[in-house]
Amino acid sequence: MVGGSVPVFDEIILSTTLMNRVISFNSVSGTLVCQAGCVLEELSRYVEERGFVMPLDLGAKGSCHIGGNVATNAGGLRFLRYGSLHGTVLGLEVVLADGTVLDCLTSLRKDNTGYDLKQLFIGSEGTLGVITAVSIQCPPKPRAVNVAFLGCPGFAEVLQTFSSGKELLGEILSAYEFMDAECMWLVTHHLRLASPVQESPFYVLVETSGSRAGHDSEKLSDFLEQALSSGLVTDGTVATDQTRLKALWALRERISEALSRDGYVYKYDLSLPTERLYDLVSDLRARLGSQAKHVVGYGHLGDGNLHLNVTSEAFSPSLLADLEPYVYEWTARQRGSVSAEHGLGFKKRGVLSYSKPPEALRLMQQLKALLDPKGILNPYKTLPAQA
Ligand code: MLT
Ligand code: ZN
Repeated sequence: MVGGSVPVFDEIILSTTLMNRVISFNSVSGTLVCQAGCVLEELSRYVEERGFVMPLDLGAKGSCHIGGNVATNAGGLRFLRYGSLHGTVLGLEVVLADGTVLDCLTSLRKDNTGYDLKQLFIGSEGTLGVITAVSIQCPPKPRAVNVAFLGCPGFAEVLQTFSSGKELLGEILSAYEFMDAECMWLVTHHLRLASPVQESPFYVLVETSGSRAGHDSEKLSDFLEQALSSGLVTDGTVATDQTRLKALWALRERISEALSRDGYVYKYDLSLPTERLYDLVSDLRARLGSQAKHVVGYGHLGDGNLHLNVTSEAFSPSLLADLEPYVYEWTARQRGSVSAEHGLGFKKRGVLSYSKPPEALRLMQQLKALLDPKGILNPYKTLPAQA
């Protein structure tokens, strides 16, 4: 997404692929301890066989490593329900720049013994140390999962449907994702997926995860009935079996892949106040006019996270000049984040100051100098280039 793991100049690539062992799993607490190179999907399978789930899930699950997930503080599709890795990671083993092995691989839920050092490495993109093992809290596997895919007539209705979902579904609401009509066009045309509902300006995917099927479907039916009768939703479909669930999720999860088949993609991953989130997309559509092939908005609405993507036939410097710094300035005015979940890597390291004050940046540089004085850990990434 941001070139965080892409070598650019003189880097050496360090692979943790062979560090793929589960170290332990506690079937009472649900604590998994494993090496950094374990693939997320394999870990999911491992804990699911034991009645638990991983607290995170994302489109790249089949290839991404848990060490990389933690290093980049990956968000993904279960964030709404289980929160950030800053909360679910219980411990880490990290190798520091001087070779010291920092063993903070505890499995304690509560530990107030001084600074919580592991937090420094979560989201540091490998710039402060190399994560070699992870201890993570896995929640129990929900017994009943439902997915509803709905069409909404406008963005205001997308927001109202979310409020109503929180109220009526309560603790079983586990995902609330949205996509606009252009996203649907991209997945149906480039990936040949079929839309399960009538054409609408917006679509939302609502997932519920709970412990009793009957109870959950009753709640979901009430919610859908209200949403349809009040006109918040114009059409919808519900899935409970695994095959249909996956097919509905694919419409949302595969947008990124469809975009990459559309041409050159300018990618933005922003945190914004939910009520203003789509204004930026409409604003840019007008600003860019025919220069852009598509200007799309989708993402984790439940987390206030917009994925704004623009495509053009080929890379265009003038289109880029119309996008940046405009998008960053717009975001900064809302006190948003210029990187909600993708990190800064190589591509976004220069825009950190739109979301962090100079004092915070200085402290980050000082921490980097303390932990990696020779600048050997993921150089040229995350922090702005120093003058
Ligand atoms: C997603 O949620 O699909 C990704 O984080 C964003 C993307 O692939 O553009
Ligand atoms: Zn995302």
